[in-house]
This record gives sequence, C-alpha cells and structure tokens, in this order.
Amino acid sequence: MFLELDGHGPHYAQLTRAMKTAILDGRMAAGSRLPPTRVLAHELELSRTTVLAAYEQLRAEGFIDGRVGSGSYVTNLPIAPTQSPCEAEFTSPSRYVRRARLGHDLRPTRQQYKVRYNLLSTNPLINPALVDLWSRELARAATHTALEENSAQGLFALRQQVCDYLARRRGIRASPEDVLITSGAQQAFSLTARVLLDEDDTVVMEDPDYFAAYQAFAAHGARLRLVRTDADGLVCGELPAAPPRLVCVTPSHQFPGCSVLSLSRRLELLRYAADQSCWILEDDYDGEFRYDGRPLAALRSLDDGNRVIYVGSFSKMLFSTLRLGYMVLPAALRDDFVAAKYLCDSGCPGIEQAALAHFMENGGFERHLRRVRKELMARHHALIEGLRRYVGRRVDIVDSPAGMHVVAWLNGYGHARAEELVAHARTRGLGLYPMTWYVHQPPPRAGLLLGYGRLSTTALHQAMQLFGQCLDEMDAGGDRTPRRRTAALRPADATDPAEP
Ligand SMILES: Cc1ncc(COP(=O)(O)O)c(C=O)c1O
Repeated sequence: MFLELDGHGPHYAQLTRAMKTAILDGRMAAGSRLPPTRVLAHELELSRTTVLAAYEQLRAEGFIDGRVGSGSYVTNLPIAPTQSPCEAEFTSPSRYVRRARLGHDLRPTRQQYKVRYNLLSTNPLINPALVDLWSRELARAATHTALEENSAQGLFALRQQVCDYLARRRGIRASPEDVLITSGAQQAFSLTARVLLDEDDTVVMEDPDYFAAYQAFAAHGARLRLVRTDADGLVCGELPAAPPRLVCVTPSHQFPGCSVLSLSRRLELLRYAADQSCWILEDDYDGEFRYDGRPLAALRSLDDGNRVIYVGSFSKMLFSTLRLGYMVLPAALRDDFVAAKYLCDSGCPGIEQAALAHFMENGGFERHLRRVRKELMARHHALIEGLRRYVGRRVDIVDSPAGMHVVAWLNGYGHARAEELVAHARTRGLGLYPMTWYVHQPPPRAGLLLGYGRLSTTALHQAMQLFGQCLDEMDAGGDRTPRRRTAALRPADATDPAEP
C-alpha cells in the first residue's frame, strides 16, 4: 500500500487523510485488512502511538471497523469510490441566479484602473483620522458587547442613534421600532424585492438608473420600467398609468444624473403613490452631503401616508466596506422586513453595530461628517473650477452642489468615441468612467461621471488639466503623445489625498 503524507499538520492527521483518500479512491478495498499498527509505524517511520491515533480517528468516522488487536478492516461503504476525481458541475442554476448573472455578465467591466488620477464615482472620501477613531471604537465595543445576543432588526442602541441623526439631519421622525439595520443599501434593495415583489410585478426606476438596485429587482423577476429624469428629477407626469408595485428614486441627488427632485415633483410622486397604492423606495445614499446650505429634507419627511420605504447607508458617510445601512419602514411592512432579514442573515454583526452606536452617541460621527463635508466642498469647487479652466465648452457640466460626483456631457462625442477617450486617458494616467458603464439604457448623449471623493484639491486640478490635454490629443487624431508634460503633474500630490 502506498501512502503519501502531505506534510500539513500533525502526523496522525496526515496519516488519517492519506488513508481516507486511499479508501475513497479504491486503493484500499472494502473489507480489506489494514496493516498491523507496528508494521505501518515501521514502514512510515512514525511512532506506533501516531498510527494508533490515526486508526482511532478512521474508526470514529466510520472508515474502518474492528478492534485494535484483532485487526482493522475497511468498512463496506455504500458509495462506490470514484476512480478519478471529477469536479461537480453546476448546470441548472436557479431562475434567480440566471437573472442575476444575466444583468451582471452584461455589464461592461467596471474594474478600477490603477492610474494616478482616478475619478471613479464610487470611491468615497477616506478620512485618515477615521481609521484611528474607528479601531478604538471597535476595541471598546468588543469588550462591552454581549456576544451571545443578536437581533435581526439590529442593535437597539444603533437604531436609536439612527433615529436621532435622521431627526436632526434629514427631517425624519421615526422610532427605533421603525428602523431595520441592514448590510448596506444593497441588502435593503434585496429585502425590498423579497418582501414586495412577485414575478412580473412592475418596478419603476429613474432613467438613468442605479445599476445595483436595478439588478436586485430584476433578479427577483420584476419588470423594470425606466422613467425619464430632467433637471427637476423624475418626470412624474410620465409615470405609468397602470399601478406599479414600487417606484425607486434617489430624490436628494439623482444617481447617476445628479438632479435634485423638486418639491412640487416630490408632492406629485407622493400623490401618485397614494392614488396607485404603490410603495416608494427612497434611496438617500449621499443626502448628507450638500454644499449650499443644510441638506434637503428627505422625501420620507413629507410622507403622511406612510408609503415611503427610506433607505440610508454608511457607505458614503464612513466607508463602504463597513457594510452597514438602515431602513425606515412603513408600519405595515415592518414585521415582514424583519422576518426577511432574519431569514437572510439573522442580523448584522453586533460589535460593528455597537461601535457605530457609540461613535454616533459620543459625537465622533458628527465631527467626522463636518470635516468630510468641508473637504468635499473644497474638492467639488476644485473639480468644477478645473473643468471650466481646462476643459471649458467641450463639456456641459451637471453641477449639483451635493454628493461626490458630477456629470460631464461630452460635446461632439458619441458613445464609441467616449470609450476611445476613456481608453486614451487611461494610458495617460487618468481614470475616466463613461455614463454607459453605470446604466442599463445608454443615455442620448455621451457623458462621463466624474467622482471627486478620492483626490485632493491639488490632484483634482492636475487631473482636469490632464483631461483637457487628453481632449486635445483626441482632436489631434493619431497624435496621442503629449506635446508637453506640465510641471504641475506631481505624483506625490496626486496619490496622497489631502486629509479633511
Ligand atoms: C445610488 C446609490 N445607492 C446606494 C449606494 C450605497 O450602497 P451600499 O450601502 O450597498 O454600499 C450607493 C453607493 O455607491 C449608490 O451610488
């Protein structure tokens, strides 16, 4: 019998593994007698105790029978051992997976470029001071949290803090009973789909749409209906006459188009939902960040009929890998959402929730937000100023003083040429991302989504200068090489985002 030990872990475990493999692949046939422990120990230059321990383990797991001393035999296993290993194939994925994959696979690759100036809009501002604060909060929470208790709805202390925050900053009156802590906004979309949607139910989304929410609904078999947005947000007059089940909107800062839903449209939408008996999902992903005064009150704050499912996220306010968000639920839906969340994951991790609740309670969260808001405002100005100076009329800017991105429509460009520009800019160290990468339906014009969360004001200035040069080079046709390298392009400034 040839047994090869793999060298990982204690000898008895290696021997057990080697013998199991030999039994399963038929080298040690059912009913055959195992060598006496002394003999095997001698052959393998192991101690007899090691071999005895391996035999005991095999016996305990049912691979061999018999008693030590009277001989051990390979058990007659009901499953015929396979001669050669073959990987399991998955040829019949569920309908859910087929739909989820369809949307996913159709999307152009959206990987981040490794470039000096990256304008990816999903990159939020990282406040370096937060790393220290957060690790202290985590350590504190780890020693103070009751590790065995968990609630599917979320830690009460965090739900309480979320209510206080929403009352102060978003004009929402809610009690902790109305709040569900989720694993980011993305889970809120999935839970909404699970709770509200049956096959073929209609979901209205804004055009341009937020791809990740679209996919969550589509994977559940919903029919997606895109409705146009303009400078005042969703064009409510174009909502379908037949009642949809859900209307999903980003009123504070349309994603990715950047408009803000006007007050009259907000009231129109609420009236529509009441008339049609449908639900509204308000995705308030970056409503906190507004640079021309206080943030606008959320749509939910105007909702007397309790038809708005409000979704918030800490992804932009803190960092996206935290994977914490919240929903404020209409009373009629509360228990169903908690039940769905319980079945999904039994609740979010307790230590992170406790750390966040304490961070919010001791004022650290608000201080962090103040710093980030101030820095983002400076970055927003730097981007707009740079665009006006170096790019000028070659783009039309949709400049809403909110969030972490703006849209730049490219004059005289079609989608194909915009892709060429993106590819060219990449070779020059500039990460540009076309609108078509973010949406399901290509917009009528070619445009770019310019995220300014990750670059310092200096880097943004340099990035816009480079953007202008890339456009020049595109105009010059074949000549793609830079005519002059500007002294301003200093990598150290660019890669080191300024601290807020
Ligand atoms: C429109 C929109 N909604 C929600 C989110 C937040 O998603 P999550 O909380 O799952 O990270 C983002 C983040 O980029 C977003 O762009």
